[in-house]
Amino acid sequence: MSLPYKTTEEVRQTFLGHFLKHDHQLIEQSGIIPRNDPTLMFINSGMAPLKPYFTGQATPPYPRLTNVQDCIRFVDVESVGDSYHGTNFRMMGSWSFGDYFKERAIELAFELITEGFGIPAERLSATVFMADESLPGVPSDEESARIWEKFLPRERIIGRPPADNFWGPAGTSGPCGPCTEVFFDRGEEFAERKTDDVLVPGRHIEIWNAGVFMQYFKDEQGNFSPLPMKCVDTGAGLERFAMILQGRASIHEIDQYEPSYQLINQRIGDTAWTRIILDHLKTSILMIREGIVPSNTREGYLLRRALRRAMIGVFL
Ligand code: GLY
Repeated sequence: MSLPYKTTEEVRQTFLGHFLKHDHQLIEQSGIIPRNDPTLMFINSGMAPLKPYFTGQATPPYPRLTNVQDCIRFVDVESVGDSYHGTNFRMMGSWSFGDYFKERAIELAFELITEGFGIPAERLSATVFMADESLPGVPSDEESARIWEKFLPRERIIGRPPADNFWGPAGTSGPCGPCTEVFFDRGEEFAERKTDDVLVPGRHIEIWNAGVFMQYFKDEQGNFSPLPMKCVDTGAGLERFAMILQGRASIHEIDQYEPSYQLINQRIGDTAWTRIILDHLKTSILMIREGIVPSNTREGYLLRRALRRAMIGVFL
């Protein structure tokens, strides 16, 4: 069943409009190079430039904020070429600094996904933090599971371990916490359910980290201490939402990228390489725009790597 179509720009406006309607303030996005944050090479999430607000080092202009932030993440570079991974994306984000917490965050997320974007609840699952010995002292998030039960059947509320559902810090130290993520079911044609797993890779894709419940600060030695206040951080890939609502095969084929995708694909003829070339060129442009030049260290090395892989694809 197809979903209500939205252009990428309409997706952006729908997300921001929802949070503005619910008393959030729109803030400017930052550049992709972190300022005063040596723990991080690139802005990798909407919350990264806002770290001082979580730690109490700075006061946010308002307790509820929203924006759309350009991000670069090399952690998924080996997966680029599939339908939903990229080294760059725009993250739609919303935040509560010492204001609402789990219940309101989940209500706001569910309302936006189902009413704002028109995605039926039957196609959604939610994951919540499930404690294990890899992260002693952080209890399972029963509260979020109970809140989700207002909206989803119990079998589609899935407990997952710290490796999946503890987010952050962005960089080697900073605010972090257990999170709840929303997954969208793309349907049987993407992957059949072979095991009892409710979430099947390739078929169920994460569309929104709908609540990182920021409660801890992790220092460079790996110690956790409580943050001065409880906060909510959410992050949703604009391109993933657009892909779903436009029924496109990948985040690289949404309306805004379609002309460039076609141009490259006519030359290359290979789907995965077309996606890699387009993704890596976009990432390179984001970096070059900020004054980064190819080199053999840090940011410059990653730029060199992105350009090199894009060129290999073109001259295959
Ligand atoms: N900051 C939440 C996320 O990147 O998923």
